[in-house]
Amino acid sequence: MTNLSDTAQQLVAQGKGILAADESFSTADKRLVEYGIEPSEEMRRQFRDMLLGTPGLEQYLSGVILYEETLDQKADSGVPFPELLSSEHIFPGIKVDLGLDEFPDSPEETITKGLLGLPERLATYRDTYGARFTKWRAAIRIEGDRLPTSGMLVENAKRLASYAYEVQKAGMVPMVEPEVLLEGAHSRLRAREVVETTLHVLFDALTDQNVDLSGVILKTSMVLSGSKSGRTDTPEEVAEDTLAVLLAAVPKEVPGIVFLSGGQGPDQATANLAAISARAKELNAPWPLTFSYARALQEEALSIWKGKEENQEQARAVFIERLKKVQAALL
Ligand code: 13P
Repeated sequence: MTNLSDTAQQLVAQGKGILAADESFSTADKRLVEYGIEPSEEMRRQFRDMLLGTPGLEQYLSGVILYEETLDQKADSGVPFPELLSSEHIFPGIKVDLGLDEFPDSPEETITKGLLGLPERLATYRDTYGARFTKWRAAIRIEGDRLPTSGMLVENAKRLASYAYEVQKAGMVPMVEPEVLLEGAHSRLRAREVVETTLHVLFDALTDQNVDLSGVILKTSMVLSGSKSGRTDTPEEVAEDTLAVLLAAVPKEVPGIVFLSGGQGPDQATANLAAISARAKELNAPWPLTFSYARALQEEALSIWKGKEENQEQARAVFIERLKKVQAALL
């Protein structure tokens, strides 16, 4: 077993998942404002501390994806966040893409940037902060039969593959995330088709770039009807379509698959994960499946915390309650 596949397997160890706490400045500030908190660097630090300083996280989390700013910040205890996680045997990960640009050939779509200077940044994340894995996210929008365009899918997949290659060369595990967005009026059937095509294009690109598939984690969307479709899928429907797509498109060498929550509420994301886990066992799926949620894990805690020290303990208790439910969904 190579070191990379060893790390990847630990990231998807049974009963554990990954917290995405890698919101960029603008997304983190947007979250704070949603809960009536005035955004600033210090409030973003307190937001991370409310989550990452929660005692007992190591029972639920194998890894946390961080944003660059957080690498240099310290928990209330004075310990830098990456060090705090490592001391609890939780792998620190880092989002390394630099966000989305308009895709010139189809301006309603986006292309993810961040390849320039990536090797130098990776060396720092690994050597200075002990990062063990990384994330790169592409965003794929569905609009009828018109979007996504195949040009955008191919270009984003090529960049995901170049990124993954560089990350493996630097000795870390690349998480590849082509997020098919929930926003839209599309049917579940259309989402299923788009997720499947996206994954085929991605794995073709990874293979073309000689990425070692045994040292990659796939982060994917579940197959769901669009948020403006007027339809709420049952967990069984989501599980059936999600597993069908994964079995059709994801090579069995891949050591693990994790899901984003994508705007589903905490209960919905938990129920869908439970049905997906059960279906995967029924079908003898070749890879472990787990969560890598941001919003579905954070929402309840944030709504109690509201940026106030006196609410921290209760917010952390609610965060742990959600982690327990999500863990139970896996088992
Ligand atoms: P959500 O779970 O809020 O979709 O975030 C996960 C993530 O990492 C998106 O890039």
